[in-house]
Amino acid sequence: MKTHLGAKNCLFPIPTTLVGALVNGKPNYLTVAYVGIVDNDVISVSLGKKQYTAVGIKEHGVFSVNIPPAGLVAETDYCGMVSGKKADKSTVFTNFYGALEAAPMIEECAINMACRVIQTLELDEHFAFIGKVVETYCDDACVVDGRVDFACVQPFFYAPDKDYFALGERFAQAWHAGKAVKERRGGE
Ligand SMILES: Cc1cc2nc3c(=O)[nH]c(=O)nc-3n(C[C@H](O)[C@H](O)[C@H](O)COP(=O)(O)O)c2cc1C
Repeated sequence: MKTHLGAKNCLFPIPTTLVGALVNGKPNYLTVAYVGIVDNDVISVSLGKKQYTAVGIKEHGVFSVNIPPAGLVAETDYCGMVSGKKADKSTVFTNFYGALEAAPMIEECAINMACRVIQTLELDEHFAFIGKVVETYCDDACVVDGRVDFACVQPFFYAPDKDYFALGERFAQAWHAGKAVKERRGGE
């Protein structure tokens, strides 16, 4: 038996991110769970139409996506509770800049992606900004043999209704775990 949930979005848990932009000359970050992969180097972030950060993204055509560690859950949650319209969020984190002048990034997040908007979709409640990743920055300590060590990055995940989950253990290898089944079924 299955419970019918209606058209409920269940693509969760999903990484909790901090999306940054320069708004009225200052860095501003908001917490964003509605993120997605669109192409290898193209990602989407969906911002409510009234979000202060959206003003900066529209003005400059760039934004950053920062992946906060579990240890920054309080600061991250704060950025999702308070708008830059009412509070100066430019001093919550240490800001730095990379490839894109108007895309402030967060030093305390192990991964930062500087993105240029290539398309904007106006949906019922959100603007979906589709961004090409221009450059990605990763803490040296979290790069092992040229690969990102996500156990070091310590991302955490948002799920309805209002829960955060930590990253679990690595438990299998992709494009490998299915080998036994493939052999059993005699697939190409
Ligand atoms: C866990 C979490 C996830 C959120 N995800 C989104 C999101 O995907 N898109 C969005 O527009 N707002 C999201 N919000 C709400 C914004 O972060 C919040 O309204 C913020 O104060 C807006 O800041 P700004 O007005 O300074 O841009 C989320 C908040 C939390 C706590």
